[in-house]
Amino acid sequence: MLRTLEGTIATLAVSGIETPAYVYDLDAIEREADDLRAALRERDAVFYAVKANSAGSIIRAIASRGCGADVVTGAELALVLRCGIDAEGIVYSGVAKSNDELDLAISSGTRGIRAIQVESIEEIARVDARARAADRNVRIAIRVNPGLDLDELAAHTHAHIVTGHDEAKFGIAREDLSAALDVVKSSANVTLVGVSSHVGSQFFTTAPYISAARVVFELATELRARGHALDFADTGGGMGVDYSGAECTRPAAFVRETLSLMKEMRCDDLALHIEPGRALVARHGVLVARVIQRKVSRARPTEKWLMIDAGMNDLIRPALYQAKHRVIAIDAPANAKTSAWRVVGPICESADDFGSHDLPDEGFTTVALLDAGAYGYTMASRYNGRAVASEIFTRAGRIVSTSPRAPMIAWADERSRA
Ligand code: LLP
Repeated sequence: MLRTLEGTIATLAVSGIETPAYVYDLDAIEREADDLRAALRERDAVFYAVKANSAGSIIRAIASRGCGADVVTGAELALVLRCGIDAEGIVYSGVAKSNDELDLAISSGTRGIRAIQVESIEEIARVDARARAADRNVRIAIRVNPGLDLDELAAHTHAHIVTGHDEAKFGIAREDLSAALDVVKSSANVTLVGVSSHVGSQFFTTAPYISAARVVFELATELRARGHALDFADTGGGMGVDYSGAECTRPAAFVRETLSLMKEMRCDDLALHIEPGRALVARHGVLVARVIQRKVSRARPTEKWLMIDAGMNDLIRPALYQAKHRVIAIDAPANAKTSAWRVVGPICESADDFGSHDLPDEGFTTVALLDAGAYGYTMASRYNGRAVASEIFTRAGRIVSTSPRAPMIAWADERSRA
């Protein structure tokens, strides 16, 4: 898959695309969605976490393979509706949904979206009040915080992206379940249809995911015993991608293990919902950048910087999570002599640093930062007045659509009016 994308970007680089640019392979993203769907049963569903990549071309490609969407804001909800995803294909998590956001979820489709996944007892009462005002009955799921051990979770991934522990703001604590059910009972305009969870992101092994799934299935069983006729159990996203390029546990393997646990715990008559983001898109996008200049210390010649036109505003993952994305020189001559170059961007921050990479000492103009399809463009900012990168969507090595970068001057015009 990567090979196709590498071939494509080499062609594009020669044809002179404007940089920095994100380049995506829509065919490979669709194959990823197909693999995941194939591991599920008919009644199960994939809700793509659009926070990973919110480009319409990507959402439509994933939706074309029978997936719905997991959204966390009203803006994401409006976006996926515009991309043609039906209200039945949308679940909505988020700790602090505004009234306007709730109203959009409640008024979508003929009976609201598939489920508003509530993250607090207080939210249940708010959803009920908004639904009453709209004269609708809406479906909710309780997002449970599985309360796993923070240190243990952080040992598997980065502390910033774990959510299923007691110190996190996410989800309703197991201990609060009875109190939550009391509120559900007194809320005439909501129907409880599921239990959901998202334990964190970037897991390479299934163990933490399965520990959280166990809690979800236990609670689903308990809720049914108390008379709630549930439709689904949602075990969230979190399937990891190894940024060193090594293979790691495939998303389908997470799903197979989850389904077998579901069977073992006798709740496999429920639909399984999953919410993958990164696993569908990360490996099928690259950030292409041009070399602006090199900088080599005369006194310490091993200190060598390769300065490129993409910065931490385009791809913040290295600065925020100490992630290391591989960097390759696209148009370097074969067998060029290589050495360690520190790849940095133009932003005035020391954290604007993509790390040390073995690269040719000369003879190339363009690089690609790999595995940048998830949480790249969506986390971009306009810091230092930088325009957000352009986006290029490809199929079979050809450009099918583009989303251009705003001209440098547009930001200056806009901010001067503020
Ligand atoms: N569902 C919920 C409720 C979530 O909060 C998330 C991610 C997902 C699903 C999808 O998780 P995934 O399958 O992509 O791991 N910016 C970070 C990742 C933050 C993830 C936040 N929530 C990064 O670049 O690594």
